[in-house]
Amino acid sequence: MSSTTDRSAGRAEIAARTLRTDRWWLPPLLNVIGLGAWVIYATVRAFMQMWYFVPQYNYLTPFYSPCVSNGCVEQAAHFGRFLPDWPILPYASLTLPFLLLFRLTCYYYRKAYYRSFWLSPPACAVPDGHKTYTGETRFPLIFQNLHRYAFYAALIISLINTYDAALAMHSPEGFGFGLGNVILWGNVIMLWAYTLSCHSCRHIIGGRLKHFSKHPVRYRAWTFVSALNVRHMQLAWITLGTLVVTDFYIMALAAGWFSDLRFIN
Ligand code: FES
Repeated sequence: MSSTTDRSAGRAEIAARTLRTDRWWLPPLLNVIGLGAWVIYATVRAFMQMWYFVPQYNYLTPFYSPCVSNGCVEQAAHFGRFLPDWPILPYASLTLPFLLLFRLTCYYYRKAYYRSFWLSPPACAVPDGHKTYTGETRFPLIFQNLHRYAFYAALIISLINTYDAALAMHSPEGFGFGLGNVILWGNVIMLWAYTLSCHSCRHIIGGRLKHFSKHPVRYRAWTFVSALNVRHMQLAWITLGTLVVTDFYIMALAAGWFSDLRFIN
C-alpha cells in the first residue's frame, strides 16, 4: 500500500504544525468569544431572580419561562409554583436543563465547540490538539446521542414560549401591542425555525421512508424542514441573539430603565 493511502502512516512528515497561511484560527476564536459571552450572560440572568417580568403587559423573559418557583410573582407563574425558592435554583429550572442539553448536543454546536474549545481539530489541515481521538463512542461524549430526545423537549418549550408571546398581547386596558411584542414574537419565530431546522427533526419527519411518493404530506414537511436545515448554523446564532435581545429588553422594562414603545394601548 502506498504511503498516501496507508492510514497508519498518519500525517505527512513535515516540521510545520500546518502549512495553512490564512487566518484559520479566526473562526474558532470568534466562536470562543461568542459562545463564552453568551454562556456568561445567560448564567448571570438565570440566577439573578429579578427583572424577568413586566406585569403591565405580561412580558415574561424566555430565561424564566415557565416560572415555576415559589419565588415567581403569581401573575408570571402560568404553570404553577411548585419548586422551592432557593438562590441556586433558577426560576425556570424545569426547562433550562433541557434547553442546555438541546443546544449542547446540537450537531452544529458540537462542531463549533469541538473545534473552538477542544481544538479537535481547530480547522481543516491543522493538527488535533489531542494525541488520541475517540469520537463520540465513549463516555461522556456518547451522551451526544441523546440529542433526538432533547429535540422533543425543545418542541414543548417552543410551544410554551409561543403561549407566553400570545399572553403578552396585553395592556392595562385589555388587548395591546408594543415593541416588546415585536421582540417576543420575533424570538419565538426564530426559535421555531431553529428547532424545526434540527437534523433530528429532519430525520424524524423524512427518515426511514422507502418511497416519498407514498407519503406526500411527510415529503412536503421534509422539504420545508430541509430548506430550514441548510440554515441551521445561522439559526443557531440568530436565536442566541434573539434570546439575549428579548431578555435584555424585558429586564430593562422591568428595571424601569425605559418604557415600552406602544403601538396599540
Ligand atoms: S442538530 Fe442542531 S438542534 Fe438538532
